[in-house]
Amino acid sequence: MDKGHRILVVDDDLEMCGLLSDVLSGEGFSVITTGDSLEAAKILKKEEFDLIVTDLKMKGLKGFDLLEEATKVAPMMPVIIITAFGTIESAIKAMKMGAYDYITKPFQMDELLLTVRKALETHLLKKEVIRLRKEVESRYHFHQLIGKSLPMQKIYDLIERISDSSSNVLITGESGTGKELVAKAIHYNGVRKEGPFVAINCAAIPETLLESELFGYKKGAFTDAKSDKKGLIFEANEGTLFLDEITEMPLTLQAKLLRVIENREVRPLGDTNSYPIDVRIISSSNRDIKSTIQEGRFREDLYYRLNVIDIQLPPLRERKEDIPLLIQHFITKFSNEFKKNISGVSKDVLKLLLNYSWPGNVRELENVIQRAMTLSQHEVILPEDLPATVIQTPDKKLVEKALEENFTLDQLEKKYIKKVLIEAGGNKSKAAEILGLDRKTLYRKLGEL
Ligand SMILES: Nc1ncnc2c1ncn2[C@@H]1O[C@H](COP(=O)(O)OP(=O)(O)OP(=O)(O)O)[C@@H](O)[C@H]1O
Ligand SMILES: [Mg+2]
Repeated sequence: MDKGHRILVVDDDLEMCGLLSDVLSGEGFSVITTGDSLEAAKILKKEEFDLIVTDLKMKGLKGFDLLEEATKVAPMMPVIIITAFGTIESAIKAMKMGAYDYITKPFQMDELLLTVRKALETHLLKKEVIRLRKEVESRYHFHQLIGKSLPMQKIYDLIERISDSSSNVLITGESGTGKELVAKAIHYNGVRKEGPFVAINCAAIPETLLESELFGYKKGAFTDAKSDKKGLIFEANEGTLFLDEITEMPLTLQAKLLRVIENREVRPLGDTNSYPIDVRIISSSNRDIKSTIQEGRFREDLYYRLNVIDIQLPPLRERKEDIPLLIQHFITKFSNEFKKNISGVSKDVLKLLLNYSWPGNVRELENVIQRAMTLSQHEVILPEDLPATVIQTPDKKLVEKALEENFTLDQLEKKYIKKVLIEAGGNKSKAAEILGLDRKTLYRKLGEL
């Protein structure tokens, strides 16, 4: 055990104080003594100790009062009571008030030392448990993100490391995996958090509008430009610009965006001037960007500018250990919203939710819980509250079924392709990879399906 522990000894019998001090110092502890219990209470407020040894019957503050003080100032610190009047009652009272142990005078020094060592050891263990618990709990979530799985922890670590830098980030992942949440976590975890977080969905806005929204315009730049307008890129100055579904940005705008990144300045439509800009761009995509580059729909040079740091969010089916945590999170969230008293899901429901493949990822899980809570008549969510898609019993092992029902090779192929596609969350490139086909062949086979 670490010998440097600090012990406070309180006894108005100064001879006893000296004796205890000698013995404890001799063991390597660092000891402070006082004969005045009021003084002891003052010291406790100013300094930290690992243990107190105190007499029970003293002038000034009684041992009990000191114990009360000590539990207020340092609730975890063990207190050992010494008493010459070892009645069971006072001992019980002291223990009830939170004393670690008591010793009756006269006592052997060995007995005292043993108790001191045990108290310190327990104290250390308690502190360690609390530290570990805190560490574990903090890993269950990060900003608004929930998840304790290894892939999510790696994402928290990554976000922690990159938040303060200004490098652009590209977040990829299937729909509903939390890309927007990650973008916000990066922004609000870093030095830019005082600046704005401006989000725009490139897929949701028509091309002409997207251009003026992003870059802004000068009065008279086009018929409807009645006054100057700052673009969103400019609005995000000193903050973060989140470009959602970046692959949907038209090629002409991609070229303009590339220029903004390279020159660190924006030029609004119809303006002859450019304006300096300091913005971090986080973009996201739920598609395979490489294939949009190959198809000539996305600029490779822009891709490299946006993808300085890449974050790939794992689909929910690859981190099923997060499902129970997410269920509980959404139940709490909707309980408050709906003012409903639902505490959890039944065992059967948990099984079904763990077995399901979640092509819509966390968003789909959130919707399923929300729906179930609206329907539920009970304190826990039951299978009847779930949508049919989730309840479907998992397919029998495909090959077993094929043998039983005498599938033709063609039938088996079709069923297998379908299954792989579902497992891949509808991502055809991924399905093609698993199947060992090129995308074209997969498309042809899907056409036959
Ligand atoms: N790890 C998570 N913890 C808690 N909630 C999450 C998590 N991931 C996603 N969600 C929730 O799921 C929903 C979808 O998340 P988000 O919008 O960030 O997904 P996305 O990846 O941007 O999806 P899309 O590609 O469809 O835009 C949101 O309501 C979000 O709060
Ligand atoms: Mg999104």
